[in-house]
Amino acid sequence: MIIIKVFVLHGFFSLIQPHTHFMPNLPMGEYRTVFDKLYPCDSTRNYSFQFNNYFNKKTAIITELKGNVTILIPFDDTLTLDINFSSWGSTGGWIPNSNTYITKKGCSALKNLGGNAWLTVTKDFNIPNASCPVPVGTYITSGIDLKKFEDHNFPKVYFYGKYKLVFKVKNIEGKVLGCEIVEVNLIRPWEKPF
Ligand SMILES: *[C@@H]1O[C@H](CO)[C@@H](O)[C@H](O)[C@H]1NC(C)=O
Ligand SMILES: *[C@@H]1O[C@H](CO)[C@@H](O)[C@H](O)[C@H]1NC(C)=O
Ligand SMILES: *[C@@H]1O[C@H](CO)[C@@H](O)[C@H](O)[C@H]1NC(C)=O
Ligand SMILES: *[C@@H]1O[C@H](CO)[C@@H](O)[C@H](O)[C@H]1NC(C)=O
Repeated sequence: MIIIKVFVLHGFFSLIQPHTHFMPNLPMGEYRTVFDKLYPCDSTRNYSFQFNNYFNKKTAIITELKGNVTILIPFDDTLTLDINFSSWGSTGGWIPNSNTYITKKGCSALKNLGGNAWLTVTKDFNIPNASCPVPVGTYITSGIDLKKFEDHNFPKVYFYGKYKLVFKVKNIEGKVLGCEIVEVNLIRPWEKPF
C-alpha cells in the first residue's frame, strides 16, 4: 500500500537529509497543501452523514472551511473509513489509484490521521470533545482557516501534484453512510499556490 511505502521513504529521506544539501528536483518531497475544492459525492443521496461544507475565500490569503455536518448515527469505531484517490495526469484527466486506504475503527483512525487538525475540527465545529465516538448531532462552524488542516498525521513527504480524495464512511455491511470529496494540490514548500 502506497501510504506504507511513503512512511518508509520518509524515514529514508530523514536519513539522507542531514548529510546532503537536499534540493529536490525529485517529484516527491515535503509539501504544502493547497485545498482546491470540497464537495459531497452525491448530494441527492440521503446519507446518515451529511456534509454541507465548502471552502470560502475570506481574504486574499485566508481560505476557510465553512458550513455544517449532521450525523444521524454516532460516528464510532464500528464504522470503517475508506479513502481512495485519483491523481491528475500529465495529459489531463483523473487517473484512479488502484490503492484504497481502508481503516477499521473509523472514528479512532480519523482522529489519529487528523492529529491536531482533528482537535481543531472538533473544537471549531463545537463537537462536545475530541473523543470517539462523535455523538449524533448537527455541528456548525463559523469558519476554520485551512492552514490548520496542514497539521495532520498524513505522510509529510509525498509526490507533488493534484489529487482527488474520496472519503467514505461505511458500516460493517459495506454500505456507504457518508461520502465527501476533497481536491488538493501538493506543492513544493517554496512554490506559490497560484
Ligand atoms: C432520510 O433519512 C432519514 C433517516 O433515516 C429519514 O428520516 C428521512 O425520511 C429520509 N429522507 C428521504 C428524503 O429519504
Ligand atoms: C447547513 O448548510 C446548508 C448548506 O450551506 C444550509 O442550507 C443549511 O441551512 C445549514 N444547516 C444548518 C443547521 O446550519
Ligand atoms: C473511488 O471512489 C469513487 C467514488 O465512489 C469510485 O467512483 C471509484 O471507482 C473508486 N475507486 C477505486 C479505485 O475504488
Ligand atoms: C465526551 O463527550 C461525550 C458526549 O457528551 C461524553 O459522553 C464523554 O464522557 C466525553 N468524554 C470526555 C473524555 O470528556
